[in-house]
Amino acid sequence: MCGIVGYLGHRDAYPILIKGLHRLEYRGYDSAGVALLTAGDKLNIYKSRGKVDDLERFCESKDVSGTLGIAHTRWATHGEPNDINAHPHFNASGSLALVHNGTIENYAVLREALERHGCLFRSDTDTEVLVQLIDYIRRSTGCSTLDATREALREVVGAYAIALIDSDDPDCLIAARKSSPLVIGVGEGETFIGSDASPLVEFTNKVVYLKDDEIAIIRRGEPLQVITNDNRPSQIDIQELRLSVAQLEKGGYPHFMLKEIFEQPQTIRDCIRGRIIDGRRVQLSGIQDNQEQFASASRIVIVACGTSWHAGLIGKRLIQELANLPVQVEYASEFRYSNPVVGPGDIVIAISQSGETADTLAAIKLARERGAFVYGICNVVGSSIARETNTGTYIHVGPEIGVASTKAFTGQVTVLAMLAVSLGCLRGTLSDDAAAEIARGIQSLPDLISDALSVNDSIKTLSATYTYVHNFLYLGRGYNYPTALEGALKLKEISYIHAEGYPAAEMKHGPIALIDNELPTVFIAPADELHEKVISNIRQVKARGGAVIAIVTRGERSITEIADHTIEIPAAPVCLSPIIAAIPLQLLAYHIAVMKGRDVDMPRNLAKSVTVE
Ligand code: M6R
Repeated sequence: MCGIVGYLGHRDAYPILIKGLHRLEYRGYDSAGVALLTAGDKLNIYKSRGKVDDLERFCESKDVSGTLGIAHTRWATHGEPNDINAHPHFNASGSLALVHNGTIENYAVLREALERHGCLFRSDTDTEVLVQLIDYIRRSTGCSTLDATREALREVVGAYAIALIDSDDPDCLIAARKSSPLVIGVGEGETFIGSDASPLVEFTNKVVYLKDDEIAIIRRGEPLQVITNDNRPSQIDIQELRLSVAQLEKGGYPHFMLKEIFEQPQTIRDCIRGRIIDGRRVQLSGIQDNQEQFASASRIVIVACGTSWHAGLIGKRLIQELANLPVQVEYASEFRYSNPVVGPGDIVIAISQSGETADTLAAIKLARERGAFVYGICNVVGSSIARETNTGTYIHVGPEIGVASTKAFTGQVTVLAMLAVSLGCLRGTLSDDAAAEIARGIQSLPDLISDALSVNDSIKTLSATYTYVHNFLYLGRGYNYPTALEGALKLKEISYIHAEGYPAAEMKHGPIALIDNELPTVFIAPADELHEKVISNIRQVKARGGAVIAIVTRGERSITEIADHTIEIPAAPVCLSPIIAAIPLQLLAYHIAVMKGRDVDMPRNLAKSVTVE
């Protein structure tokens, strides 16, 4: 999704802005732009369709001087990706430049009204409406740019993070947010802004997370000032950023995705650190501090999107099995418009890697309005979802840059397993010994994942056989039905091969019609109580000429004899098997995508954090 960077200080802004844009590339975008205010107060705006590298090439012969600037990567929502629709957008006289992340829902009405007052529009974007509205208010009332911005933001409906510069006020940078993230980095005599902390990390570790309806006024030589849209001063909470530059780099791997897949033994170690006591008890502070809520809850509703939704499906089985509590799993995007029956006594668990997914945020707000207690499972510390929930647990897997979620998925499932054990103990449905056994299993996950990663070379070889197929089917049962969904999502999003996940037994109710020698099926078939049934599903595929790639527990024989390829993973407790089975699925998707020459870390059309509806 769009990325914003801004700088006001004593250094040249351009290199800082460009570096920041590169750091934000992982979010997904289709064009980029920059606005710089020169020493002579001239506002230079350069924009280009394509990558940040294209923008840099475009700027090679241009004046990029100035110590105040804003920059943007755009992920098209209103209007196609082209130079004109790229940000920054500007007013008729070219004195105001604005970058925006989010969507202005009432932009059409506002644009019509502005056109009636003589405004001419160059682009198809909602963002240009906002900058023209600010300019119009300023011109028609004679108020300051800041007051006009406040006024305009009160008129727009929708989500925004914005940064604005005005050549008539050359020492000021204005930033504001509502439902779209914006972070301010406070340095020595310089201030940075970013859609997330990644553009700021090499300059400062002091950050302020702007809250909804807040406006930051960054003025040269003055301390940061934050006010609300209705002009009241806001409390400024400067926090310490715990993020290193190394975490944002590839560390010798060709892609972030591969680095993140191989990081998983360590990320799961980080995820469980301090949460398993004496090797037998699970302690999550979010549960510990809210025992009453969890002990008396009559059901749990999980809301999430994409990969996080798949983790939620595994969480459902874990919680139902270990804590005997009914669980419903909803797509956040559907939940928010379904007039859901939730209220006091219900616990809503929101799962989100980024903590910024617009649909999940809206689902949380709705659940809270209706009186439910909301628990967040997030990765990004200080994210909107982490702040909007009553309590929760961070997965602590470090920044995930590859668009395809890998280490966040295994972290989410690990947290859900710890949560289910903790709830089972609290509600008396899990004996101490049974809890201790699963706790030991959770502790062994880093080693089991290291072991599972050893199949990398053989998966790479296998991937060459399947690079050019057009469709894939992924099947699994029980705990590994969601793993099948996740495997299919990984493949489709980075290789653009159509892939479907299904519960294995459902195959006979429809998808079996597709099976022929051109449709390979991946079976996730570790040893569990449904193993024999999955074997008969494999036979059904083989009988119809379909190729089978099976993920099996090491030492398994029956499937090895009938499948075309078997990938062995180490034995793990069944309820934790999705975490181990996910590893070869991530590798399979990765290698096929690389062999197809895809942009693995930034697949087309996708954004890392989906901050629009
Ligand atoms: O940040 P979130 O976990 O809320 O994101 C949800 C989905 O957008 C995300 O999982 C998406 O499906 C990934 N690209 C999957 O790899």
